[in-house]
Amino acid sequence: MPVEFISLTFPNASTELNPIANAPIDPEYLVRYARNLDDYAFNYTLVPYDSSYFDPFTTGATIAAATKNLKIIIALRPNTLYPTVAAKALATLDQLSSGRAVVHFIAGGSDADQAREGDFLNKEQRYARLEEYIRILRRAWESADPFDWNGEYYQFKGFSNKVRPVNGTIPVSVGGSSDDAYRIGGALADIFGLWGEPLKETKEQIDRIYAAAAAAGRPESDRPRIWVTFRPIIAETEELAWEKAHRTLDALKANRAPAQSSGPAAAPPPVQNVGSQRLLDIAARGEVQDRALWYPTVTATNARGASTALVGSPKTIKESILDYVDLGAELISIRGYDNLNDAIDYGRYVLPPVREALKEREAHYKA
Ligand SMILES: Cc1cc2nc3c(=O)[nH]c(=O)nc-3n(C[C@H](O)[C@H](O)[C@H](O)COP(=O)(O)O)c2cc1C
Repeated sequence: MPVEFISLTFPNASTELNPIANAPIDPEYLVRYARNLDDYAFNYTLVPYDSSYFDPFTTGATIAAATKNLKIIIALRPNTLYPTVAAKALATLDQLSSGRAVVHFIAGGSDADQAREGDFLNKEQRYARLEEYIRILRRAWESADPFDWNGEYYQFKGFSNKVRPVNGTIPVSVGGSSDDAYRIGGALADIFGLWGEPLKETKEQIDRIYAAAAAAGRPESDRPRIWVTFRPIIAETEELAWEKAHRTLDALKANRAPAQSSGPAAAPPPVQNVGSQRLLDIAARGEVQDRALWYPTVTATNARGASTALVGSPKTIKESILDYVDLGAELISIRGYDNLNDAIDYGRYVLPPVREALKEREAHYKA
């Protein structure tokens, strides 16, 4: 089974450990970070969205120009862009990057954050709109003829798209942990994004997504590929890694307020966000789950975005990642707390052994 690695895009040197309040984008840093991901053979970088944060499309185009293989996942909330405009913007980025554009849809986990940009639909309606939106984008990418749309959320006449994705279409990802997220992602997504939960809960979520795909009439060969997200804290030995984890936690607690106002907010606070609520519920059960899944980083940041750590030596991190591969995860998102240095560490000490182990397994199955 092919396994691919994802990181998150950081546009400047601000981190959760050393936040720089209101830091502007730093083009040199952005390019250096993206080139490191490319050189160390990460497959994707997610360009996140938040109502107060940088524009993912221009950031993504800058990354595309500076890299060769790295795929660019644009996080997109449907309320922020009319679907025909989004279809062309994504296809433009796809052409600029020779077929490296991916879109990650966010229905919106917080009424308050949606309202900041004029969106007053409730969550159920936001998911219904997302479903319509994905169908429009697919049609716009694939339809040779002009078409009309007369839906509940969008109506237009005679839209004709001349901006085609390089490979005919663009991979569509959906993230979330609510029933609506499973239903719509299961029915329509190529990729389904999850935050790092223990193995048992991850398996339950994967089963729900696969069941939703089956209910929508998709055969097993066409189910969404599963993406799971972690924040590894690695060091040469287990002992050093745990010391580092506690130093990281102390810094997160000390910086909590400034980090939340200046960092790349990967999700709104967990008021109505089922994924965040699940992380906090699991955190209440104990600090360590399974091999090395560590939850104090979740509690310290109030589960604001992907926040479950994996702590240990490169061997422990490799084995933990392989546990999720065994459950069916094909996309592994890893980002740390010391953003650039951690990405380089993963590129040196995590990606190669995981890939090596998978190659050995493949050779073993073939023999
Ligand atoms: C892998 C992944 C990446 C995400 N990236 C973002 C993001 O960039 N911006 C954002 O507002 N929400 C992001 N989210 C959050 C969810 O998409 C969002 O909260 C969802 O709309 C509501 O989740 P729920 O259905 O579980 O309540 C991400 C979620 C996942 C799993």
